[in-house]
Amino acid sequence: MKKNFPAWRPPLIPALLALASLAAGPALRAAQTNYLASLDISQVSQGWGEPYANQSVEGHAISIGGQSFSRGLGTHANSQFILDLGGHADSFSARVGVDDEVGQGNGTVIFKLVGDDGKVLWQSKEMHAGDAPVPAELPLTGVKQLTLVAESPDAIDYGHADWADAYIVYNKKGRPKALSSFQEEAVILTPHPAPRPRINSAKVMGVRPGHELLYTIAATGDRPMTFAAEHLPTGRHWWSGLFGGSDPKVGLHLDPQTGRITGTLKMPGTYKVTLHAKNALGEATRELKIVVGPQIGLTPALGWNSWNCFASAVTAEKVKAAADAMVTSGLINHGWTYINIDDFWEVHRDSQDPTLQGPQRDASGHIIPNPRFPDMKGLADYVHDKGLRIGLYSSPGPWTCGGCVASWQHEVLDAQSYAQWGFDYLKYDWCSYGQIDKGDTLAGLQKPYRVMRAALDSVDRDILFSFCQYGMGEVWKWGAEVGGNSWRTTGDINDSWGSMAGIGFRQNGHEVYAGPGHFNDPDMLVVGKVGWGPNLHPTHLSPNEQYTHISLWCLLAAPLLIGCDMTQLDPFTLSLLSNDEVLEVDQDPLGHQAARVALNGQTEVWAKDLEDGSKAVGLFNRGYEKTIVKVNWSDLGLKGKQTVRDLWRQQDVGQFSDSYSAEVARHGVVLVRIWPAK
Ligand code: GAL
Repeated sequence: MKKNFPAWRPPLIPALLALASLAAGPALRAAQTNYLASLDISQVSQGWGEPYANQSVEGHAISIGGQSFSRGLGTHANSQFILDLGGHADSFSARVGVDDEVGQGNGTVIFKLVGDDGKVLWQSKEMHAGDAPVPAELPLTGVKQLTLVAESPDAIDYGHADWADAYIVYNKKGRPKALSSFQEEAVILTPHPAPRPRINSAKVMGVRPGHELLYTIAATGDRPMTFAAEHLPTGRHWWSGLFGGSDPKVGLHLDPQTGRITGTLKMPGTYKVTLHAKNALGEATRELKIVVGPQIGLTPALGWNSWNCFASAVTAEKVKAAADAMVTSGLINHGWTYINIDDFWEVHRDSQDPTLQGPQRDASGHIIPNPRFPDMKGLADYVHDKGLRIGLYSSPGPWTCGGCVASWQHEVLDAQSYAQWGFDYLKYDWCSYGQIDKGDTLAGLQKPYRVMRAALDSVDRDILFSFCQYGMGEVWKWGAEVGGNSWRTTGDINDSWGSMAGIGFRQNGHEVYAGPGHFNDPDMLVVGKVGWGPNLHPTHLSPNEQYTHISLWCLLAAPLLIGCDMTQLDPFTLSLLSNDEVLEVDQDPLGHQAARVALNGQTEVWAKDLEDGSKAVGLFNRGYEKTIVKVNWSDLGLKGKQTVRDLWRQQDVGQFSDSYSAEVARHGVVLVRIWPAK
């Protein structure tokens, strides 16, 4: 049973300090107590929920081991709170523990106080709910930056981490400044694309018989550039003549100026095409396999989605601007393809905003977009005319998550509208379907996706199908069978280390369910300017955390959907998204997802096989201090001399016989590719 203590009592140390300052003259008199909860706690990065001042993460009075506290900070593992002390702090004090709200014995959290250069200055034992609060007392003289960390060594479940009665005493007037991320120099590692041509688009693509195909040969290198393709299937066969000539609509065509391959193919089979890109300095070639059959989306989707930047503030103009920027930024030349509208292209159920109002469906039930999207077909044509594909969003319930019109009982009509407008991708949420089915059986969870799958199959267009139900019912185990090209494995990501790393490093074990045409989706990218609304901010991930994000997502063979405002791409963000050797890890035709092959405290090694027999390997450091991370060949099933190449720098680093070690920055990564040495 919980023991209730009287409400807040003044903490002993500040009270004593106050007394001492009265007695000890001006120097001490200026000392100042800064309660943690009075600082800008919106900068706390955490794995679940929101931080609370003077309450637990679920908004209850803070309670640890039966003791109640009226002051403190309620967070959730894994969390970090970075404080710039400017060297003015004297001491830190708190009582830490897992909040009683999760129930005796639940949750596992280690609390850490991390100083400059990532030095762990203090650390608690492993704590669980019910344990008595542990005092965290630390002198801070000379410490410039203090990071409060609450980590769960394994799963973060029930990691309701409280810093009760927490305060920092300053030796003069002033307050610690909360930082959203580590202030690090944004070092660009990606080399500039070479002036000679290099082809970067996917090496394999699937298309259904008779359905329209659009494949843009993505190539970097100086312009002007021309394109050619050998063995492009024309759709004409030796027997065509016997039956009155070939169908002019069947067969593929390449535009030599734009590099776009368009057309349709009726005969199932695998067609091997050799692509060429040529400029004044040289020529590149690449084999492309076009697989005509039931399976599309053979490599993870590469593109942009409106949600993480604009959310409910999306408009057709912003979508067009994103498509324009995909081209003008040069990202299209690295293989980026989809321009996806998320929620809020539909009419809202009760918004006062006139641009979200209007008739929801016409007399025959066809969906009518909101006034911000007056011409969906025109918008799709606009995007296709740039060599890109376009996507949209809906939900199986009556309303989307944002409260707009969704597809309940209009699935076939909606699929027909998408096809008629020319859409190529559907992200299908779960929202408000809970009103129809509680989702407490597997059949119930699967049903809306089966219904929409059948609807999409009934239209004569290839529409990539992306499930967005946050991993319910272990969707990775059945997403492929129900016809998903990808499925979200988690709740929504945000641009914090707690969220991104929490999601990314939790994907271990899902790798057995990924393969060409069906991929796990750990949610969209949070680099660049994001904001989920009209007001955008630069991502709160530090530069090293951003390298970790992109490297891990590529290793995971995740769909990569850029979440930032494409019109405000800065050089660093662009460099993260345009490293062809890194993107190749994501787009590898084998479609393998990396698994964790070594775990050593805060360091992890993840690896996956690539089509050419090499391996992509990520050496990750989740800790706060730079450290050496090592991968043993035995962890990779390798023997003998191997050539190691640093993928971000695009440089060979040497040949190694048993293992490879590299220094990895805090929250950073070294991403390498390993081949048997010649
Ligand atoms: C959420 C989904 C987000 C976004 C949003 C739209 O459920 O996870 O990615 O699509 O709905 O309302």
